Amino acid sequence: MTDDVIAGLWTARYRTAPPDGVPSGDDVLRHLLSHRSVRAYRPDPLPDGALEAAVAAAQSASTSSNLQAWSVVAVEDPARRTRLAALAGGQAHIVQAPLFLAWLVDLSRLSRLGAARAHATDGLDYLETFVVGVVDAALAAQNAAATFESQGLGIVYIGGLRNHPEQVARELELPGRTMAVFGMCVGHPDSDRPASIKPRLPQSVVLHRERYGMADEAAGIAAYDQSDAAFQREQGLAPRAWSDAMVRRVAGPESLSGRDRLRDALAALGFPLR
Ligand SMILES: Cc1cc2nc3c(=O)[nH]c(=O)nc-3n(C[C@H](O)[C@H](O)[C@H](O)COP(=O)(O)O)c2cc1C
Repeated sequence: MTDDVIAGLWTARYRTAPPDGVPSGDDVLRHLLSHRSVRAYRPDPLPDGALEAAVAAAQSASTSSNLQAWSVVAVEDPARRTRLAALAGGQAHIVQAPLFLAWLVDLSRLSRLGAARAHATDGLDYLETFVVGVVDAALAAQNAAATFESQGLGIVYIGGLRNHPEQVARELELPGRTMAVFGMCVGHPDSDRPASIKPRLPQSVVLHRERYGMADEAAGIAAYDQSDAAFQREQGLAPRAWSDAMVRRVAGPESLSGRDRLRDALAALGFPLR
């Protein structure tokens, strides 16, 4: 029997009842299904130890070859958060939340290890190693996010940190071969402006069994356009079809918020991406 809490969260996520067999009483599942991005925060600081617990969870994530090719910069200084908010497209929640985390792909540590041993580190120049760092950073960040959320704190990821990668690197005094891949606001959600669980695509669209299949895709997306439209209405947001909006989001370089020049920015930051 699925418990009522998980069934309710599942229904919010998919706008359909859960299938039989979804585990009941699973606290991890309950917390993960409860996720919603928080963009309105109270100013109070985080409880003592919250950052360190989240970083321990982040460091407990799997990491390619145990390279641990990521770092995180914790920014509390309001003036620095204000400057980062401006660089990330003027996102007010970066100013409002008491903690901003910049998650880095960090190949600089390996570079320093090589230099100290007069050992070649040419493997760092390859796209593969950059991808390793990005994957490591994302896995670490999501473990941290889940930990913050399980303590009643809220988070929102900030991809806007890639709008101006070189300026962000200067602001955070990042060494070469390091790049802020995304940010994360963390704080106490403002209960006067609560966030809601946003529906996701039906599993029939994203879960492929044995082989990739598209047979259910059109119907699944049509159903999702309806769920998403209902969510938009409930939130008082402008009506739209998700499928149209997402196609617009990838229409061309002009829809990438300046990130179409990311390859050049990465070269400037010490990633040749061979
Ligand atoms: C890597 C990444 C970057 C994101 N960047 C931003 C951002 O810059 N600003 C923002 O408000 N939300 C950002 N988001 C949040 C997404 O918009 C959000 O996760 C998505 O709409 C689904 O909503 P939910 O998280 O509430 O379920 C980002 C999410 C991810 C994973």
